[in-house]
Amino acid sequence: MAGERECGYLTFYVNGKKVTDPDVDPETMLLSYLRKKMRLTGTKYGCGGGGCGACTAMLSRYQVHTGTIVHCAVNACLLPVCQLQGAAVTTVEGIGNTKTKLHPVQERIAKAHGSQCGFCTPGMVMSMYTLLRNKPQPDMEDIREALAGNLCRCTGYRPILDGYETFCESPNCCQMNGAKSCLNENNPNCCQQSVKETGLANEAEVADSLENGHLELFSKDDLLPLDPSQDLIFPPELIRMAESGVQTTQTFRGERITWVSPVSLDEVVDLKALHPQAPIVMGNTNIGLDIKFKGVLHPFIISPTRVPELFEVKHTPQGVSIGAGCSMSGVRAVLGGLVQTLPPEQTELHRALLQQLGNLAGQQIRNVATLGGNIVSAYPNSDLNPVLAAGNCRLTVVSKGGTREIPINKDFFVGFGKTVLNPDEIALSVFIPVSCKGEFVRAFRQAPRKENALATVNAGMRVRFHDGSSAVEDLSIFYGGVGPCTVSAPKTCQQIIGRLWGEEALNAAYQMLLEEIPLPPSAPGGKVAFRRALTLSFLFKFYLQMHQKLAEMGVIAEGLQQDMRSGLDPLPSHFLPSYQEFQGVLEGQPGQDPVGRPMMHRSALSQATGEAVYCDDMPRTEGELFLSLVTSTKAHAKIINIDMSAALALPGVVDVITTKDIPGKKFRTFSGLTEELLAEEEVTCVGQIVCAVVADTKPHAKQGAAAVKITYEDLPDRVFTVEEAIEKKSFFEPQREIGRGDVTKGFKMADQIYEGEIRIGGQEHFYMETQSMLVIPGGEDKEMNVYLSSQHPSYVQDSIAETLDIPSNRVTCHVKRVGGAFGGKVTKTTILACITAVAAWKTERSVRLVLERGEDMLITGARHPVLGQYKVGFMRDGQITAADVKYYTNAGNCVDESVLVIEKILLHFDNAYNIPNLHGRSTACQTNLPSNTAFRGFGVPQSLLVTENIINDVALKLGRTAEEIREANMYRGPSLTPYKMEFDPENMLRCWEECKRRSSIQSRHDDIAQFNQRNHWKKRGIALVPIKYGIGFAESFLNQAAALVHIFLDGTVLVSHGGAEMGQGLHTKMQQVASRELCIPSSLIHISETNTHMVPNTCPSAASFGTDANGMAVKDACETLYTRLEPIRKKDPEGTWQSWIQKAFLEKISLSTTGYYRGLDLYMDWEKQEGHPYAYFTYGACCCEVELDCLTGDYRTVRTDLVMDIGRSINPSIDIGQIEGAFMQGVGLYTMEELKFSPSGVLYTRGPGQYKIPAICDVPLQLNIYLLPGSQNPHAIYSSKGIGEPALFLGSAVFFALKDAVASARRDAGLSGPFEFNSPATPERTCLACASHLTQMVPISEPGSFQPWAIESP
Ligand SMILES: Cc1cc2nc3c(=O)[nH]c(=O)nc-3n(C[C@H](O)[C@H](O)[C@H](O)COP(=O)(O)OP(=O)(O)OC[C@H]3O[C@@H](n4cnc5c(N)ncnc54)[C@H](O)[C@@H]3O)c2cc1C
Ligand code: FES
Ligand code: FES
Repeated sequence: MAGERECGYLTFYVNGKKVTDPDVDPETMLLSYLRKKMRLTGTKYGCGGGGCGACTAMLSRYQVHTGTIVHCAVNACLLPVCQLQGAAVTTVEGIGNTKTKLHPVQERIAKAHGSQCGFCTPGMVMSMYTLLRNKPQPDMEDIREALAGNLCRCTGYRPILDGYETFCESPNCCQMNGAKSCLNENNPNCCQQSVKETGLANEAEVADSLENGHLELFSKDDLLPLDPSQDLIFPPELIRMAESGVQTTQTFRGERITWVSPVSLDEVVDLKALHPQAPIVMGNTNIGLDIKFKGVLHPFIISPTRVPELFEVKHTPQGVSIGAGCSMSGVRAVLGGLVQTLPPEQTELHRALLQQLGNLAGQQIRNVATLGGNIVSAYPNSDLNPVLAAGNCRLTVVSKGGTREIPINKDFFVGFGKTVLNPDEIALSVFIPVSCKGEFVRAFRQAPRKENALATVNAGMRVRFHDGSSAVEDLSIFYGGVGPCTVSAPKTCQQIIGRLWGEEALNAAYQMLLEEIPLPPSAPGGKVAFRRALTLSFLFKFYLQMHQKLAEMGVIAEGLQQDMRSGLDPLPSHFLPSYQEFQGVLEGQPGQDPVGRPMMHRSALSQATGEAVYCDDMPRTEGELFLSLVTSTKAHAKIINIDMSAALALPGVVDVITTKDIPGKKFRTFSGLTEELLAEEEVTCVGQIVCAVVADTKPHAKQGAAAVKITYEDLPDRVFTVEEAIEKKSFFEPQREIGRGDVTKGFKMADQIYEGEIRIGGQEHFYMETQSMLVIPGGEDKEMNVYLSSQHPSYVQDSIAETLDIPSNRVTCHVKRVGGAFGGKVTKTTILACITAVAAWKTERSVRLVLERGEDMLITGARHPVLGQYKVGFMRDGQITAADVKYYTNAGNCVDESVLVIEKILLHFDNAYNIPNLHGRSTACQTNLPSNTAFRGFGVPQSLLVTENIINDVALKLGRTAEEIREANMYRGPSLTPYKMEFDPENMLRCWEECKRRSSIQSRHDDIAQFNQRNHWKKRGIALVPIKYGIGFAESFLNQAAALVHIFLDGTVLVSHGGAEMGQGLHTKMQQVASRELCIPSSLIHISETNTHMVPNTCPSAASFGTDANGMAVKDACETLYTRLEPIRKKDPEGTWQSWIQKAFLEKISLSTTGYYRGLDLYMDWEKQEGHPYAYFTYGACCCEVELDCLTGDYRTVRTDLVMDIGRSINPSIDIGQIEGAFMQGVGLYTMEELKFSPSGVLYTRGPGQYKIPAICDVPLQLNIYLLPGSQNPHAIYSSKGIGEPALFLGSAVFFALKDAVASARRDAGLSGPFEFNSPATPERTCLACASHLTQMVPISEPGSFQPWAIESP
């Protein structure tokens, strides 16, 4: 009887150790179980929603029917612990460590420099480890697929792929597979084919340089071999348990939920009859998100993951019936097997499904998400449902009333998340029929990112032709993503049925299709015109595919013309070997001196083993509380009342912290303006922090926060966009202005004048480690110990002291490491830390705050969106005579660093160009969106996009290449910036020329022109952009740094300095500096943490200046110590370092000292519009080529050549890592990442599900990095240059290459000259800008006649 169930102990294994738990809370996921209960903190929280892979672990189960053990990678954040009965979990700690033995997957990612901040590394390691358990000799495609569900925000992925490529039997080239040519001669993605097609002939160059003693970033010679005997064995007890056949129903009761895990179908049916509203939890990839992110509470859950009938696969001649409980990976295996064994004409549907399954989510999701779950969830953009429906599949359901078979057709999906299933019915199996003769099925999909992204629009289409003819006998078309559920287009089909397959029939169908699928202009999800265009594009692609098929079958005489075939071909996807070129150390440099050599990030190994401790990995302290924030739901409103009574009544809630609890300063001052820590009377954006709840556990704190009721009174005059701000003059002062020459005169001289504008959207930092902190009251003298993830611990220290009204010397901030920051952990972290400190102060207990990904995205702001408006005057030869540019940034509700950002925008807007008459003005607009803040590049990436777009427009006006215009206007010889700073652009020009040479751009222009002529629907584009980036802080005092160095009696050295390690390798470089200065091996040097009591009054780790400043301070300290030791060394020249140190101690020589670097006296006088705000410039140039599918906006960067002048690199592996990581972040900024706000100012994009950062699929197929040789820099340590930020802008080469490809498509459509093309160049913008005949058919609703789903351009 359901209801009287045994409360079984949960038995499973973690890393070979048995876990028996009688008391599991059904709301607990494996991730928190591992991290909090088992103290296995290697597995990380990155998003909590299956979208980032940081929490990847391996799940192994014994399959009784096959007698095999199945290993799969899973997202621990979505895996309910209650489902673990009989499973073995392996985490990063279980495979190796630095104390005993590393596993090769840990070692290789570290040695290949694939771990920067390291927060994603354990997840990467576990995805790769699981792949190797299943396939010890993978190929690159396996690796790429295994890592597709893992995001990294730091590295740009190239080093991770290179490190793991060492597991492949053959290198990344099919030719090396033992055969003379590609194993599959027709493989369009063969690297040899790609080289031929693209003219990317530098494979030979790569091979040459390797032979000629080219330096490599890591040695592949001494890597640990893969040794399967090192792997943990599957626990024999679990095999015995499974084979015993004794399975009992388990029930787990938590505070709010009861979870039943039945073992027989009858029992599930009974339970469902009793609890028809209870969900069936299988993969938990849908229901889990509802519970977590939408706050849905299901008091009763049925989880039949051990019911065998749900996993049965039955083959019949008519088709295959697959159990609804089978995972996507399972379904893929079954269908893949059938494709191998059945005749091809029978597997049309199977192959279409396989295509969708290959793109559906990442591996971790596919391993648990089930077929039945996908169908029943009835997502509007489910990838399977349109194909299942088009393919006439049938679902068998079971209930107390019996079994029935339901066709998955147009009547099956009845609304958002709803099907015709009755609440008490359970999906048992899905029948997938074989295709019949003359029948063809195709699947289509377009997503914001090529992989691991829900489709924007997808489709399944099936056609059956009359025997031996092109007359259509039957047709069915289903779309996803264009309505509340999967929708069909029966009238369109009717229009075509009975006619011959041809353009005529198709042309008649388009209009019908637009009428039949009438997406309203304010449809949820937005992108309305694009989505509608995609429905047409997919139909057109289907037409092309079938036309070609009919021609191949000889049914129609002529196949597609060459240029039309481009609508069929997939984009290239084969990775070519990457290449990095850097300079070796000077002859005679001692072997132990690590400066200038590629040295692994000093924490890379512990990051790869999960031993590296991040803030939230710190153990719970006695009596610790968790803090959860309550944020405003209104964009502009008066706070009438905060009712905390319901929250305080909840279990575990200890207190609610409001502004009244702040003993000291209730606000933070920046740029002369103030920002409240907690809103008191008024809120000015959604997401503003109003109060905070502290409770004994995180779930209790969250529940408490949700129970706080705030009453508001709406205030008028909300401002969201830059345009609204301009209209209402809602600006932060001061605005800035700069210029040289006389623009009025310059415009008069010009042959032509053009006025245009471009917008650049914001960008979320998406550091993988969300904002985290732990404040521990010292217990006496009002001391506070603050452990946090911050770029600027001294600022936090001072702010907390002010907030608590205590002296700064009572507050100690510790930063061990930061899991990525990118500018987002300076000001916002400080506010959060102050609030947490108030909670700790009031409660006198330790308080921890770790933001959820969604909270982090909502609260902490982003990169400033910018509107750039310009007027440019130029001569026929491309010489620009004058440019006048206005920049408006959307600063949000508080000034934060926005004035500094607009200043930096103007300090860079000349970029590489000596435009004689130049004027710029920049303004920070005050709006009712969350306050934007610093982000890598600090306004420069936005500023330069406008500049380069001006150049591009001039080129389009003159019909010349953009390089020609760039070269005609570049600085040459000793030059002056608009603010009259002298500089020599020689190295900038060298980077430019070197990039031109390396990329062979001249000849590729011709190749591309030919390609574009041959291909109507695919276009290639190429662009080469330069950068001149100023290093240092214009506020002189920020350029100073200090260090503290201790030498211990055993000869080991402890270095402390003011910089924070956030993945950029600062500590590693400091270790290299100390090693050189003290002439000792770097292994003797340790850096423990950044600590405000060790090195006080530090400056932020920002502005690409960390190494320059801290390096000099460390050098200074080490020089002092080395000089002190000189007499001892002289007395005993044969002695060892250790002996000298002991001697020095006996002779009472101090072995500890501080070092200091004053920094240059940089300044900027805005009144006079002149100054010397930078120490020097870092230069670079980048050339990118893309291939664009004009029908969908999908694109691929086929090749990137990037040349960077970074002086003499202190550590080429770290510097190249910074270049590649920044470049990829730039690719994200300019082509993918979109923040979307509702018309009332609510951020929609609050996680990796909605906000797409680049993944492995976005890495250029060929990525070549060259460090400019022969460059010196007298202004920085060891002649190096700052490199953290500059390369981010070079990602815009992809943007301009796309624009070039779009321009080519537009020429085919009869359009020429400049056109509107904003950043990011998403598939939506790119496809629509191509202006194909299909996009032109889509009716555009009159702006203002409807309310769009999202604010168009904040
Ligand atoms: C990060 C991420 C990426 C994703 N990407 C994609 C994508 O690209 N394409 C795509 O199509 N989908 C995607 N999904 C959605 C995913 O495929 C579905 O969530 C999944 O298939 C649902 O299956 P499940 O077993 O996890 O369902 P669960 O979450 O366990 O259950 C979902 C719902 O289905 C019901 N249900 C489940 N099984 C049965 C059954 N046998 N009988 C009756 N009701 C049942 C439950 O009651 C519940 O209401 C993604 C999901 C995530 C988290
Ligand atoms: S934390 Fe699990 S996927 Fe992001
Ligand atoms: S190293 Fe991958 S997120 Fe930082």
